[in-house]
Amino acid sequence: MRTPNPYTPGAGFMPAYLAGREKLLEDAEKYLEAIEKGYPQQSVIYFGLRGVGKTVLLNAIEEIADNRNILYEHIEIKERKNQRSELGYFEQQIANICKKFLHAMSIKESAKSLLRRAIGVLKGFTITYNPQEGTFSAGVETDGIAEYIGTGDLPSDMTDLLVALGKAANESGSTICFFIDEIQYMKEIEIEALVGAIHRCNQLRLPVMVFGAGLPKILKTMGDAKSYTERLFRFEEVDALTEEAAKYAVREPAADENVSYSDEAMNKIIEVTGRYPYFIQAFCSAIWEQCDGDTIEGDDVEKALPVFWSDMDKGFFMVRFERCTKREKQFMFAMVKCGELPCTISNVAMIMNMNVSKISTFRAQLINKGLIYATGHAEIDFTVPQFDGFLKRINPGLELD
Ligand SMILES: Nc1ncnc2c1ncn2[C@@H]1O[C@H](COP(=O)(O)OP(=O)(O)OP(=O)(O)O)[C@@H](O)[C@H]1O
Ligand SMILES: [Mg+2]
Repeated sequence: MRTPNPYTPGAGFMPAYLAGREKLLEDAEKYLEAIEKGYPQQSVIYFGLRGVGKTVLLNAIEEIADNRNILYEHIEIKERKNQRSELGYFEQQIANICKKFLHAMSIKESAKSLLRRAIGVLKGFTITYNPQEGTFSAGVETDGIAEYIGTGDLPSDMTDLLVALGKAANESGSTICFFIDEIQYMKEIEIEALVGAIHRCNQLRLPVMVFGAGLPKILKTMGDAKSYTERLFRFEEVDALTEEAAKYAVREPAADENVSYSDEAMNKIIEVTGRYPYFIQAFCSAIWEQCDGDTIEGDDVEKALPVFWSDMDKGFFMVRFERCTKREKQFMFAMVKCGELPCTISNVAMIMNMNVSKISTFRAQLINKGLIYATGHAEIDFTVPQFDGFLKRINPGLELD
């Protein structure tokens, strides 16, 4: 194609046309408006498979928050393997964004006393969770701003921090939003702390809210954290697009460049991509690179298929597959061998010729790595759409050795 490629296959890349998320965005704006008015709001967690558009959705909501002059910060939780060297990582991230919030509020004249208190709490928190020290030492501020002791008990310290922040926000007429991506990588204690802190802020009618996004596994993790989580958070599924929305996602970026799709081409794209946003961007991008007419025809789509799958295999799928151990790979091949997904762990065990308790470790590791998730009823499935197809392509016989 002679014109620039308008498609955006890439983690968190805002598409030229954000399709099918109107309702989620409208709702998010409603929640933001309500919390600005001082009505406590449930925080929102978006969950869905890989590449379905969670990060992009969070970014779009941040834009709404920005337009409304709400104070917001975005953090992405990373997967942590090395427990020791990453001690204090999450606390540090929270402390850093609280610092930014406090700085933004300090510009407003009206909030002085509670702001000073919040700064004191934040200092105490930072000292308590100083990763350099590697210990949870208690911090006492003596410089006159405030005296606050971090207890080293994360849930209680986090509540103190968010409540102090919320009170300062309330006083200065600000609203605060935390946007937390890849929330499934938060540890249980961190989730418990966050949930508890938000709960307290809600009880005190403080203008603090969280928008989170992550893999379906967070439903269970958050449910386990505290019994009242369900009432405190709204869980919203981000799924593959409807057929109509998928057609918009395909058509609109090209229309901006005066290129259109024949019905045959469109239907083929919808079928191959399963209406998954990342697949749509990657496939349309590959098609775009391969043809140069003003109308994209069925043949053009067919021609781009091998490049598309090879790009997907090399990029999207393989990077995830390669993070697995030999046993974990065998476990996943066995899942595909079950013939139907989601599948049961007992079927996987039978195919691997091992007992269930033995393979439970691999199941847990794969869930932790974010490759599979429990769908309920003791069943499991892949978090990556069409991962079974990829596993068959690289191992057609589904050999386990
Ligand atoms: N609503 C949408 N319409 C069109 N394209 C979209 C939409 N949502 C996401 N995309 C595209 O899909 C791809 C994946 O989006 P994103 O990174 O937000 O997914 P994700 O759910 O956060 O994935 P992961 O779980 O891997 O972090 C991007 O290339 C983005 O441009
Ligand atoms: Mg993402």
